[in-house]
Amino acid sequence: MSQDKEKKMAADAALEFIRSGDVVGVGTGSTANLFIDGLARIKGRIDGAVSSSDASAARLQSHGIEVLELNNVGSLRIYVDGADETTRHRHLIKGGGGALTREKIVAEVSETFVCIADSSKLVERLGTFPLPVEVIPMARSMVARELAQMGGEPVWRSGFLTDNRNVILDVHGLDILDPVDMESRINQIPGVVTVGLFARRGADLLLLGGDRGVEEL
Ligand code: 5RP
Repeated sequence: MSQDKEKKMAADAALEFIRSGDVVGVGTGSTANLFIDGLARIKGRIDGAVSSSDASAARLQSHGIEVLELNNVGSLRIYVDGADETTRHRHLIKGGGGALTREKIVAEVSETFVCIADSSKLVERLGTFPLPVEVIPMARSMVARELAQMGGEPVWRSGFLTDNRNVILDVHGLDILDPVDMESRINQIPGVVTVGLFARRGADLLLLGGDRGVEEL
């Protein structure tokens, strides 16, 4: 089955978890876009959405779904988003689309984080996908040196700025044996805004599209 079909199956399966009156936390990327398109079909049942990126906010609004400020909402019952890699423990690498910081904020305030993905995203160990790190621009070289000392090969995502006007370093070659420890070590480097490891607060439920339908983990 194609990756696109698997993503669509996972995105549609996530709609089953939406309840009447929810303000839905919404992620970013091609799988999240499919979820947004599905959400449009049931928009009369929800009270709006909190978006993790300007791109997703624009897509939600194009469907007539109200986008609310997180500061005015407080907490969320549910957050639905994709991932670049996931383990069976639901530790994730995210940020391929550069929205990792806002994604982590929305995940943090959500009671349940439902991750939707195609089967290619499931890995034994995180780190084949280069790990995105959002960095304050003036700290780019310094943070890159620190990441190199940790055994990674950081590559500046040149020409790209996040919605927060920061830069991204994509770190290749990291051996992520202990995702929780690595998340906290990278987050402690001055100048790092967020690392795209979602381990301390991973997903609560993984909906994985595959040949035999949607697997729930
Ligand atoms: C964006 C993300 C996305 O969830 C991740 O990149 C997966 O994208 P896609 O659904 O297009 O495969 O973290 O920052």
